[in-house]
Amino acid sequence: MATIKRIGLLTSGGDCAGLNAVIRAVVHRAIEGYGWRVFGIHEGTMGLMRRPVDYEELSLNIFTGNILRMGGTILGTTNKGDPFAFPMPDGTKQDRSGEIVEGYHELALDALIMIGGDGSLRILRKLALQGGINMVAIPKTIDNDVPFTENAVGYITAVDVATEALDRLQPTAASHNRVMVLELMGRDNGHIALNTGIAGGADVILIPEIPYTLDSIKRKIEAIRAQGRSFALVVVAEGVKTENGEPLTVTEIGGVIHLGGIGHYLGRRIAEVTGAETRVTVLGHTQRGGMPSPRDRIFASAFGVHAVDLIAAGKFDRMVAWSDRRCIDVPIAEVISRQHPVDLKGPVVHTARGLGICLGD
Ligand code: F6P
Repeated sequence: MATIKRIGLLTSGGDCAGLNAVIRAVVHRAIEGYGWRVFGIHEGTMGLMRRPVDYEELSLNIFTGNILRMGGTILGTTNKGDPFAFPMPDGTKQDRSGEIVEGYHELALDALIMIGGDGSLRILRKLALQGGINMVAIPKTIDNDVPFTENAVGYITAVDVATEALDRLQPTAASHNRVMVLELMGRDNGHIALNTGIAGGADVILIPEIPYTLDSIKRKIEAIRAQGRSFALVVVAEGVKTENGEPLTVTEIGGVIHLGGIGHYLGRRIAEVTGAETRVTVLGHTQRGGMPSPRDRIFASAFGVHAVDLIAAGKFDRMVAWSDRRCIDVPIAEVISRQHPVDLKGPVVHTARGLGICLGD
């Protein structure tokens, strides 16, 4: 078994609430439990690509204050720049994976903990295999689309934030007799939208996993009116397409393209077919920021401790996960070979249907 003295830690991909709680747990367990040194790499793999390598040694004294409660990541992160096809200033793409592997060895690290979502897991595993990096992964993503774990860090907080938005939209919808459309994140999965919709009393929930028709939404709104209610709440996941199956995207300044626009599209279409006054809220990055919920802090802490214990046991190429009330670990190879969409036959969809929520089909 490899002798461990120095471990690296990085956050990769989009940030979310709870990352700092993971960092804190890793540092506590590694230093207090095993007497190791912990090196936090700045901005994901970018820190290992830079020269000099961009990092800081993490000691217990930085966690005496507020960091457990803070959103974001004190290490910084990036969701751009695949090192195997890294965008260069001249517009070309270059394989810079070797520089990252060199950076890891330059720091004389014995192991690396990466905190990331499915995209980062794929990239970092390839790097780890190529460069002889002893890696353990911790799942984080508000989208909750990492398989084998009931929860990824950040997801619960995102649902809390989105539910609070629905709680706030309901009284204003009722006061003005409006149909409120709330567009939520989640990429190609509807976990945030479905769970938020149930928690926040939505009448209609549209997710990418279930094709919808406008007629079905119209019928639901007419049924609500027939019951004497004059407002409705509609939740839609950003990955839902138009009625014709067209994905809607937004191009940011700088050319980055991401999902977005379905909320406004639906707001218009619902107004046209029902005559209702509609308003649209796009919640966006508020779902990623802010203070982590206590549940996310607990998952984050359990994952951090377990990841360090895996390294101590010489078990690499594995991701920690939460399953059946326990912290477990699974091979990363298996994680990246699957997807984790909403289970259409699962209890959450069953609950939504049982509540009479229209899922668009
Ligand atoms: O994967 C997490 C996520 O927040 C998605 O839900 C969303 O589509 C995307 O990241 C937004 O990315 P960016 O931070 O690049 O706008």
